[in-house]
Formats: sequence, structure tokens, C-alpha cells
Amino acid sequence: MSQGEGIADWIAERMKGFPVEAHDPAEGLPLQVVPYGAAEVQAALEVLLSTWVTMGREVRAFEAEWAAWCDAQAGVMVNSGSSANLVALAALVHCGRLSPGDEVLVPAVAWSTSLFPIAQLGLVPVLVDIDPDTLCVSVEAARAAMTPKTRGVVVVHLLGQPAPIQPFLDLGLTVLEDACAAPGAEIHGRRVGAQGAMGTFSFFFSHHLTTIEGGMIVTDDAELADAARSLRAHGWVRERSDADALAAANPEIDRRFLFVTAGWNLRPTELAAAFGRQQLKRLDAWLDQRQRNHQGWCAALAPLSPRIRCFPEQPGQRHAAMAFPMLVGPGVDREALKAALEARRIATRPISGSNLARQPAFEHLPTARVAGPLPNADAVHERGFFVGNSHAFGPGHGALLQDALKEFLDGR
Ligand SMILES: Cc1ncc(COP(=O)(O)O)c(C=O)c1O
Repeated sequence: MSQGEGIADWIAERMKGFPVEAHDPAEGLPLQVVPYGAAEVQAALEVLLSTWVTMGREVRAFEAEWAAWCDAQAGVMVNSGSSANLVALAALVHCGRLSPGDEVLVPAVAWSTSLFPIAQLGLVPVLVDIDPDTLCVSVEAARAAMTPKTRGVVVVHLLGQPAPIQPFLDLGLTVLEDACAAPGAEIHGRRVGAQGAMGTFSFFFSHHLTTIEGGMIVTDDAELADAARSLRAHGWVRERSDADALAAANPEIDRRFLFVTAGWNLRPTELAAAFGRQQLKRLDAWLDQRQRNHQGWCAALAPLSPRIRCFPEQPGQRHAAMAFPMLVGPGVDREALKAALEARRIATRPISGSNLARQPAFEHLPTARVAGPLPNADAVHERGFFVGNSHAFGPGHGALLQDALKEFLDGR
């Protein structure tokens, strides 16, 4: 046996049982299971042993594979989903698709960093209400919020639920899809991400596919992709498709340190990309199981309506089932219910940032505006929570959840 085989065997032995593929509901319903195994460890180790650890071949390969998986022309990897949102919006500004002072619609229920970069880039966030059936942006509320200054929208596919895109394209708005929690979500058979001008994904540990921390931007627009490549890496020209032309136009500057825009350093590492490439091989099967869970759990909990409301897949859509959100009905004490679930080892969390206009951070966005009342975002804020979903869960977890909810509601 060569030394390499010995190490591979040792890794396989140490990672036995990982990734967790079948979690036992007797242990409760956690938010996430350990989602990686020997293949990811081996891939990361290979990168370390190669000694080429900073952004390079693995990142380029993962970008191409991820873009193909999303049916997009280009992928640009960064170090988080939040960075992806920041860089994508900055690319839209850099390329003149949005300009400082433009109003950008954003659902009031979203992740914090779906909202913050809009203001950080000098754009004006306008928070609009959500659709009560999907928890995603309401097209009617968005339409009502539009002014002559409205130029863009950040559409958030909340917790895996596809949000409307085409109605915003029809309104002539520049659309950024925040698909950070929705890889593989589909609208009429087409994956989300590249239906708008740009789309973003998060590869944080608890997501469908993880690089531990990480994120990706996808787009069909070569100019936006090039801008994103500069903006994530110091503003320089490396990795751009037009790097040769830019270098030729600036012959007096060494092209290795040729800066063309005011960027950040939000680069991923080769370890993260190598890890992600192994994860991608697992993703389709894992998404199928998450979707089955979502459908099965919605059916199991339907008799509990209206005391417990869940959010089934909409016709013509595929839910990416990041987590399983619920709203308690009037008269049901959400905090007491959450405590009862946690006591049965069913982990809970708020529905993302819930109504972001009610977060203390909102005061630090002086230009941001709330359009109209937000009754549906308030309902999520006051009555919503989610439990985890995972490829490693199944009908037994749905039964556990159903039993724990019934026990609480029936006062057993
Ligand atoms: C909709 C949405 N956008 C952005 C993010 C941020 O991603 P990250 O945690 O990788 O920065 C998240 C994180 O869960 C999210 O759900």
C-alpha cells in the first residue's frame, strides 16, 4: 500500500458516518447535520499538499461547474453570500445598470445582508410587503411602491421558496436575485439565479451545499461578470475576460497590479472551492430529499391549520426547502410553542431577519424607506419561526414535528 492510500484509508476511517445521510428522529430535529465526508476532506487536503492554496484553478473550475448547474453563463466565487450580494450590487452600479440615488425595492422579510449593501452602495432601499402565501416579495406591494426613481429590485427567494422574477423584468426593473438560500429552486422548470441580471448564493455551513463559508454570483452578462471579478479582488484585472485589452490600454502599469475599479478583497480560497466541488456531486439527490420532506411535512401539518400555517410549494415551482417556516394562528403563544419544541430537541429560529424595518439596525440606514404598511411582514415578525430541513431527514422527522405541535396545541 502506498502512503497515499494509507492516508485515504485513515481519512475514510475518521470520517465514517459522514456526511450524515440518515439522521435518527429519536435524536430530535436539529437545524443541520454534518454535511461533508471523506471526499471533501481529501479534496481540501490535496489543495494543501499542492501548496497552491489561494484563488486559482479550483475556484475557476467550481465557478464553471456552478454556473453550468444554474444554467448561467458565468460564476464568480466569493467568501460568503453576503459578499456576493455586495459585489453583485456594486457590479450593477459599476456598469451603470443602477446609479447612486436610485430606489431599489427589497422585501421587508429578508436576510440582513439582502438589505444592507443597497444602502452601503448609495442606493435607496425601499422595503415592501411580502405575499402571505409565499413569504416572498409581493408584486402588488412592489408595484404600489414604485416611483419615477425606482430602478431595481432585490428579489429574495426566501428559505428556498422561489420569488417572482418575470413581473419585475416586465416592469423594466434591474433584478438581483438573492438565491442565497435557494439553490435549485425552479420557476416553470428553470432554476433561479440567472433569470434576473445577477443572482447570488451562499455556501455557509448550514446551507444546501457548503464550503464552510463561501458564496457565488451568477450572471449571463459578461460585462457584469468581469466587474464582479474586479470588485471581489482589490479592483484589479486578473481573471477578467478583457484583462488583455485593459493591460494593452495601460502599458505603463504592470498588469499584475493593474487596478480598474474600487474593489474589496472578498476572495475565496482554493480549499473552499475544492470542498464545494465535492459537495456539488451530492446536491441533486439532497435537494430531492429536502423537497420530499417539504411536501410530506406540509401534508402532515395541514390538519393543524389555521393554528399552524405552513407554506406549500406553489404550482409550477420547485421549492429548494432550505428550512421549514411556519406561522402560528391567532391565540397561539409562539414563544411557549418554541420552548415546547426546543424541549423536544426540535431546534427553531426566526424566519430570517423577519420584518427588517423593526430591527435596530434599520435606524442605521437613514436613506431607507418603508413603502406602506407591512401587515404580512409583521405577521412573520410576530408569529413566525422555522425548523430545519435536511437531506438526512425524512417522514419520521415530519411525524416528530407533527406530534410535538399537536401535543402543545392540545395541551397534552
Ligand atoms: C437570503 C439570504 N441572503 C444572504 C445570506 C447571507 O449569506 P452568508 O451567510 O453566506 O453571508 C443569507 C444567509 O442565510 C440568506 O438567507
